[in-house]
Amino acid sequence: MPEKIDLSDLGLFAEGTPDEVFRRLRRESPIYWNEQSDGSGFWALTRHADVMQVSRDSETFGSERHGIMIYDESFETSGRERTMLEMDAPRHTRLRALVSRGMKPRKILELEEFARRRFSEELDRCAELSECNFVVDVAGTLPVQVISEMMGVPESDRRHLGLLANRIQGFDDPELGGGGGSENSDAIEEMIRWTTPIHHFRRTATRDTTIAGQPIREHDRVVVWYSSANRDELVFTEPFRFDIARAPNDHLAFGFGSHYCLGANLARLEARVAFEELLARFPEYRMAESHVERLESGPIRGALRLPVVLRG
Ligand code: HEM
Repeated sequence: MPEKIDLSDLGLFAEGTPDEVFRRLRRESPIYWNEQSDGSGFWALTRHADVMQVSRDSETFGSERHGIMIYDESFETSGRERTMLEMDAPRHTRLRALVSRGMKPRKILELEEFARRRFSEELDRCAELSECNFVVDVAGTLPVQVISEMMGVPESDRRHLGLLANRIQGFDDPELGGGGGSENSDAIEEMIRWTTPIHHFRRTATRDTTIAGQPIREHDRVVVWYSSANRDELVFTEPFRFDIARAPNDHLAFGFGSHYCLGANLARLEARVAFEELLARFPEYRMAESHVERLESGPIRGALRLPVVLRG
């Protein structure tokens, strides 16, 4: 393990989440001053309780000043429009109220049949292949299809929307199509904790303050590591065990507080429908021998290539 840990070094994530590094930080230095090669630095928070404290207090730890990426974003010069993640109250509160109207549980449930049908069609298309890339061939289009259905985007524009969505997330790979029952729901929740698709987001201190006794200065960058919080021994019993019956399961994969993921229920529904359909049709599906290609991105944990054999 490196003596000096730099969590902004993508190399550290090349083989997946560096669990040992996070374990050591949680134990030895939970509010860690992460120096970067350019001489600047940020606070890296790796414990569940501290990630909660920062996420809960969006007045002291804001998103508007420099965005949510480790490196400062200047919206004035880049010309990129802010997403609601990059806004603070009152602007954020207004926009969130508007968007969340379309995300009510009943509305989400209505999308279930649509998602099931679309996903089954993708599976059918791949049934005859000896091996498929699950990301591109099967799963990748579902989120864009569902959100398009929700917003009434015509069929002919959906592929274009998918490409745009990827570009916003920093995926320029042209191939990439997109980024129940209570037992199944528990299992899905554990899959989301286990995978934690977003490693981290960042906030900026809006005034001098403290976190777990550590003084933090106004303007300091504070990075919350969901992938570490979701393995915190102080919160999860046997955090490195994949337990589909885990309860409670207070993971932070969807964040916490005023920016809590607005798509959480939709994401849960899509994951549940996808697994139900996959298991019903191809109970013997397995990973193929060929290699997995990971997505190289700061905050997002994902794959570009996930080779799967559907028929055993
Ligand atoms: C497994 C899939 C997903 C994961 C892991 C995820 C994770 C997250 C996280 C960590 C945040 C930030 C929360 C915070 O700062 O406290 C967030 C915010 C957000 N997510 Fe998701 N998300 C997922 C799927 C979705 C989907 C499918 C949609 C839309 C349909 C969506 C829409 C949003 C929006 C709009 C926000 C910003 C909310 C705000 O700023 O108030 N997400 N998500």
